[in-house]
Amino acid sequence: MNDPLEKLEEEHRVIEKVIGALKHMVEAMKRDVNPPVEDLRKSVDFLRTFADKCHHSKEEEVLFRVLEERGVPRSGGPIGVMLQEHEQGRSLIKEMLRAVEAIEKGDEHGYIVFSEKASSYIELLEDHISKEDNVLYPIGRNILGKKEMENLSEGFEKIEVEKVGTGVHEKYYRIAEELGVKYK
Ligand SMILES: [Fe+2]
Ligand SMILES: [Fe+2]
Repeated sequence: MNDPLEKLEEEHRVIEKVIGALKHMVEAMKRDVNPPVEDLRKSVDFLRTFADKCHHSKEEEVLFRVLEERGVPRSGGPIGVMLQEHEQGRSLIKEMLRAVEAIEKGDEHGYIVFSEKASSYIELLEDHISKEDNVLYPIGRNILGKKEMENLSEGFEKIEVEKVGTGVHEKYYRIAEELGVKYK
């Protein structure tokens, strides 16, 4: 793949599968049909590892840094907003995980908490992904040269190996597929 930003866009499509599945789970919970807690845990684990630890690290540690070097300001600009949204996502994931742990201990109230936090997360991430696809990545394509694009590819590769490991990364593609098929 010559354009490393296509890799990030492809990951957005994978994240969207899990977000789509989560939407269906939340709708079911609102009708008092609670999905198996294993599926909630699987979704949170995906969001924590694939979406946050891997995808957001590629953005924060590689893409945003390169964009900053090329003059895109951190504060008051799109990078600052993206970073703030990553943080919001991180705390929502933590709260979703706490809700899953409560459910696993038999606390049915955990479903209500999970459904609230997951709804906020879905809303946040849908908007976030759309801003990156339509605003931030096009800025990157406009201002980054061939060499910088190559550096991005190398940086993304490195993060993938360091943060999750290549085989593990593939595992999350399968989990997203599985959840997307089960909840639609
Ligand atoms: Fe992001
Ligand atoms: Fe992203």
